[in-house]
Amino acid sequence: MANRIMLNETSYHGTGAIQEIANEVRAHGFQKAFLCTDPDLIQFKVVSKVTDILDRESLPYEIYSDIKANPTIENVQHGVAAFKASGADYIIAIGGGSSMDTAKAIAIIVANPEFEDVRSLEGVAPTKNPCVPIIAVPTTAGTAAEVTINYVITDVERKRKFVCVDPHDMPIIAVVDPDMMASMPKGLTASTGMDALTHAIEGYTTKAAWEMTDMFHLKAIEIIAKSLRGAVAGTPEGREGMALGQYIAGMGFSNVGLGIAHSMAHTLGAVYDTPHGVACAMMLPIVMEYNADCTGDKFREIARAMGVKGVDEMSEAQYRKAAVDAVKKLSADVGIPGKLAALKPEDLPFLAESAYADACRPGNPKDTSVEDLKELFRKLM
Ligand SMILES: NC(=O)c1ccc[n+]([C@@H]2O[C@H](COP(=O)([O-])OP(=O)(O)OC[C@H]3O[C@@H](n4cnc5c(N)ncnc54)[C@H](O)[C@@H]3O)[C@@H](O)[C@H]2O)c1
Ligand SMILES: [Fe+2]
Repeated sequence: MANRIMLNETSYHGTGAIQEIANEVRAHGFQKAFLCTDPDLIQFKVVSKVTDILDRESLPYEIYSDIKANPTIENVQHGVAAFKASGADYIIAIGGGSSMDTAKAIAIIVANPEFEDVRSLEGVAPTKNPCVPIIAVPTTAGTAAEVTINYVITDVERKRKFVCVDPHDMPIIAVVDPDMMASMPKGLTASTGMDALTHAIEGYTTKAAWEMTDMFHLKAIEIIAKSLRGAVAGTPEGREGMALGQYIAGMGFSNVGLGIAHSMAHTLGAVYDTPHGVACAMMLPIVMEYNADCTGDKFREIARAMGVKGVDEMSEAQYRKAAVDAVKKLSADVGIPGKLAALKPEDLPFLAESAYADACRPGNPKDTSVEDLKELFRKLM
C-alpha cells in the first residue's frame, strides 16, 4: 500500500505568527468565527491576544468555552448546538489539545450530522464531508493537534477516552506562535513537552514508520531534547524550539500512529483525569524498556538525537539503555513524577483491558497482551 502524508494547507511558525490570522480570514472570505477555547485561557488573557486582532480588523466572532481538559462527549454536543445557533462559517481553535480536539469533533459533526452521538466517530470514522474549516492556534507545546488527523474525546459514562482518526478533520491553517504558549506554568510546559517527546519516540518506532516520518521524528526528538529544559526555565529559545519540535513530531505521528504509551496514557486520563502529558511522560520510559527488543537499531538513533555521545561505539544493550536513561533524565530534570499515587491494584484489570482496546495499541512495535499491560501499569505503583 502507498504511504500517505497529510499536513495543513498552510502553517505559520514563530513569534508574531498570529498576526497572519486576519489575512487568512479575508483571503478565504470567511464571515464569522466560532472561537473554541477553555475558560482558563480566557482568564489568563491568552484568547484576547487573538480577539484583539479580530476586533481591530472588525472580524466578527463568538466565543465557545464549555471545554474541560480531557474533553467530554457533552463538551462536543453542547458545542455543536452552539455552533449551529451562532451563524458562524468557520472555527478558530485556541488552546491545547483539549480545545483543538473539541473544535475538530464539533467541526466534523456539523458537516456530518449522522455522527451526532460522537461515540460512533471512534477509530477510523467513515465521514463523507470535510469538516467546517478550522484555523488552529496551539497554546501548549505538546499535542500538535493543529497538524494531526486525530482527536481524543472522553466518554465519562464508560470511563474511556477514545481516539478518532479522520483526514476530514485536518485544520486548514495552523498558527504556531510561541508567544501564545508563553503563559504556560512550568509544570504544564514540562508535561506537554514530554507528550511531544512521546509522540516523536512512539512515532519513530511504530509499526508503520517509514523514511519520511523517521525524518520528522528524529528531528523532533533532537529539537525537543535540546529545548525542553530551556522552555521550562522560560527562555525564548526554549519556547521557540518546543513550538517547532512538537509540530514536527505531529507531521510524523499523525500519518503513522503511535504505541502503547499512548494507549495507557489515554486510559489514565479517562479513569483518574491524569493530565495527558504527565501520563505519557510516566509511561514512556517503562514502555521503551518493554519494546526495546523489537526496535532493531532505532534506539541508537534515539540516543544520538537525545544528545548522548559515543553511540556508534556502544553495543546494542548499551545504546538501548542509553536511550531510555536519556529520556528518564530529561523527565526527572523537568520535574515529572515517576509514580501515580491514584493507581490502585484493584483497578489494574480494567486499566489493562481498556488500554488494550485503544486505537494506538496495534501500532506498538511489540505485540502486547492484557497481562503485559497490567504488569506495565503496575510499575507506576
Ligand atoms: N489530537 C491529537 O493528535 C492529540 C495528541 C495528543 C494529545 N491529545 C489530547 O489533548 C489533550 C491534552 O491537551 P494539552 O496537553 O495541550 O492540554 P489541555 O488542552 O488539556 O490544557 C490543560 C490546561 O492547560 C491550560 N493552558 C493551555 N495553554 C495554556 C497557556 N498558554 N497558558 C496557561 N495555561 C494554559 C488550559 O487552560 C488547561 O487548563 C488530551 O485530551 C489528549 O488526549 C490530542
Ligand atoms: Fe499525546
